[in-house]
Amino acid sequence: MTSFKALRVHQTPKGPTACVESVRLEDLTPGEVLVRVAYSGLNYKDALAVTGRGAILRAYPRVAGIDLSGVVEHSSDVTFKPGDRVLATGAGLGEWLDGGFAEYARVPAEALVPLPPGLSLLEAMALGTAGFTAALALRRMLENHQHPGQGAIAVTGATGGVGGIALALLKRAGFTAAAITGKPQAAAFLRALGADEVIERARLDLGRKPLETAVWGGALDNLGGEVLSYLTRTVKPWGNIACIGLAHSPALSGTVMPLILRGVSLLGIHSVQVPRAWRLAVWGQLAGPWRPAAIEQRIVRAVIGLESVPDAAQTLIAGQATGRFVVRLRGAEC
Ligand SMILES: NC(=O)c1ccc[n+]([C@@H]2O[C@H](COP(=O)([O-])OP(=O)(O)OC[C@H]3O[C@@H](n4cnc5c(N)ncnc54)[C@H](OP(=O)(O)O)[C@@H]3O)[C@@H](O)[C@H]2O)c1
Repeated sequence: MTSFKALRVHQTPKGPTACVESVRLEDLTPGEVLVRVAYSGLNYKDALAVTGRGAILRAYPRVAGIDLSGVVEHSSDVTFKPGDRVLATGAGLGEWLDGGFAEYARVPAEALVPLPPGLSLLEAMALGTAGFTAALALRRMLENHQHPGQGAIAVTGATGGVGGIALALLKRAGFTAAAITGKPQAAAFLRALGADEVIERARLDLGRKPLETAVWGGALDNLGGEVLSYLTRTVKPWGNIACIGLAHSPALSGTVMPLILRGVSLLGIHSVQVPRAWRLAVWGQLAGPWRPAAIEQRIVRAVIGLESVPDAAQTLIAGQATGRFVVRLRGAEC
């Protein structure tokens, strides 16, 4: 192939601007494995990069897209051979490396995971970084002794990619889950994913005391700010709060009281630079015991082309999406 389609973000006098254009392999950042991309997924971070609302890309021009699935065309690393089905999430793609919003990607072998049996290339990207992050959070909570008997897990930003998949995984792992959402009209969607209870965020009594009545067994938080602060005050003794996102605010405020008087743990979740053994184990869980039911029907909001990515990114930034946008590339025809 001489050239192929990619969505690249350029730095312009008006700020970062995304456009679909023709690029050549030599234009891409290096990587041992050439992947014909089948699907990518649109994450909040991609939306920030594509709209220029966040400083995600470390250099310009850069192909955006932190996730991809596809088929190996060529590899100079013996771990992979032509025809292998693979996926990658994070690992610098769509940040300091050219990413998945392109028909071809050059990917460091270290970043690639063989597509686990039980997942299609589309399903892998319906989960993508969102699913991987939710599963990593659940794994860390379990490692820190979270168990269903402690009570329901509160999930914030529940209609988002991470939140929605977290509801599904919690169900599969035997927990009850409460979806805290800004979209009460999405209650049926949230219940179908796995929520046992749906709570409108605006109706939550956030309280102010360092310790409020403890009601949650634990929490997965995608919002930060005042909601995260509320969770620290209301999680029961020895519960865990997986701190994932900042869709509302990057602020973290509160006191040490929940930590020292209830043994509550705040677990940092970081999905980009993850030890390879953890990556493989988490994807094994996602494709196996924690595999959400009906991934395509329940998690995918729409399968879109590269040209639709900027509009979809605006929807995500406005907090209006329910479910995941999956981006279809030419490799999907393989
Ligand atoms: N730590 C990591 O490695 C990692 C990995 C992936 C994602 N993240 C972060 O986790 C968060 C969620 O990611 P995502 O991909 O699930 O995003 P998403 O699909 O855009 O979902 C975010 C959800 O948060 C809520 N929300 C959005 N804007 C809000 C606002 N201004 N105030 C309050 N609530 C708002 C909405 O849910 P409701 O309407 O249901 O409340 C929205 O659906 C983001 O901050 C993202 O950057 C972190």
